Amino acid sequence: MSSRISVIGAGYVGLTTSACLAHLGHNVICADIDADKVVSLQNGIIPIVELGLAELVAEGMASGRLSFVVGSVEAAKSCDIAFLCVPTPQGEDGSADLSYVQRAAQEIAAVLPFEAIVVNKSTVPVGSTKVVEKALKRPDVKVVSNPEFLREGSAVQDFLKPDRVVIGSDDQAAAMKVASLYDGLSTRVIITDPASAETIKYAANAFLATKLSFINAIAAICEGVGADINDVVVGMGSDKRIGENFLRPGPGWGGSCFPKDSRALIKIAEDADYSFDLLKGVITVNDQQFDRVVQKVVRSIDGDVSEKTIAVWGLTFKAGTDDLRDSPSIEIVKRLIAKGFRVQGYDPTVTQQKTGIPNDLEISFSPIEVTVNADVLLVLTEWDDFKWISPSTVAISMAGKQIIDARNLLDRKDWERAGFTYQGIGR
Ligand code: UDX
Repeated sequence: MSSRISVIGAGYVGLTTSACLAHLGHNVICADIDADKVVSLQNGIIPIVELGLAELVAEGMASGRLSFVVGSVEAAKSCDIAFLCVPTPQGEDGSADLSYVQRAAQEIAAVLPFEAIVVNKSTVPVGSTKVVEKALKRPDVKVVSNPEFLREGSAVQDFLKPDRVVIGSDDQAAAMKVASLYDGLSTRVIITDPASAETIKYAANAFLATKLSFINAIAAICEGVGADINDVVVGMGSDKRIGENFLRPGPGWGGSCFPKDSRALIKIAEDADYSFDLLKGVITVNDQQFDRVVQKVVRSIDGDVSEKTIAVWGLTFKAGTDDLRDSPSIEIVKRLIAKGFRVQGYDPTVTQQKTGIPNDLEISFSPIEVTVNADVLLVLTEWDDFKWISPSTVAISMAGKQIIDARNLLDRKDWERAGFTYQGIGR
């Protein structure tokens, strides 16, 4: 059965949720406070790089099931279910800042139809369902937690083919109503209490970050003992209890969720009187990984930093997105600049004007242009395009012949044949 849905917030979670729910047959009004963004969306212009999203938005608008408005009140006044998809940035003490969630709830409280349901999709600390209930002051409106597990770059796929849907509510009828929104999907629906639903989201992200720091630590050991991390991952990951997913070593993990959510979980644990030392170690190992990449660069030019130029391939926190938030590449570039290197970077989705580019980083227009006169080429994001670039063309353009492939993306033999000294991660 189709429902009338309002989605508050047209960020990557809100926009993906809106487009996918419209695709599943619901009538969706998506609201944002940014009027320019809303006008762009009304004209079919999608502000983020997200595979398949533009097509779904176009489909929703053409069918009349998806529209965009300025302001939450306009969207919420005639809905059965309102999704809160607003940011929960990191507060000063590491905890999640709930002010956007509270404000959105207060705004819609006055206009929500009788017995509407409010769904919290923003990543919020355990107990936030109660915070929303308090902000709403509407006993007839039930609040349900329904965390998202969307990866940037594959958010549409993750929404429409999820491993599970998690719903947390103390009200069985409200939980079932939210569950029914996903009727078109063949997946496991887990219905639980709000605190457990909120904990599932943080625990999943923290566990994945733990896997990543673990494999980066094993990669460091591989380098010391002469083992090959790629073979180690296959050997380890073949154990069904472990699995190969999320075991690709790299320059460290980042993005809009893992760093923020892992720090928030440490704070949640502290408030619950538990010192989450394991997760603190996971973050420390990640920070060390950034330094390990910087050290590889320094060693490749025998420690002589003066007048050396580093060309960087890839600036986003992973391939398939244009997001620079908490990007390991940007952190590593900053550390290289602080050491006195001249750094020039290229990324298929990044221009000099983009917010988040360090002041001293020069952005090039092509992956070859960026290598001109560089002493070292450093691969930081796993864009597929880099695989098809001819090492001999790069060799002609560069001053030095050092390549550090922090994603183990390229074919070592090809680069060695072109005269390069190749260093990967953990091999
Ligand atoms: C993550 C979660 O996966 C998603 O479920 C949640 O809702 C939001 O946070 P996202 O931030 O889009 O999604 O990125 P993800 O694909 O999980 O990657 C996170 C970081 O880990 C990136 O820096 C990525 O490069 C790194 N990574 C991932 C690795 O280094 N190796 C891997 O094997 C996988």
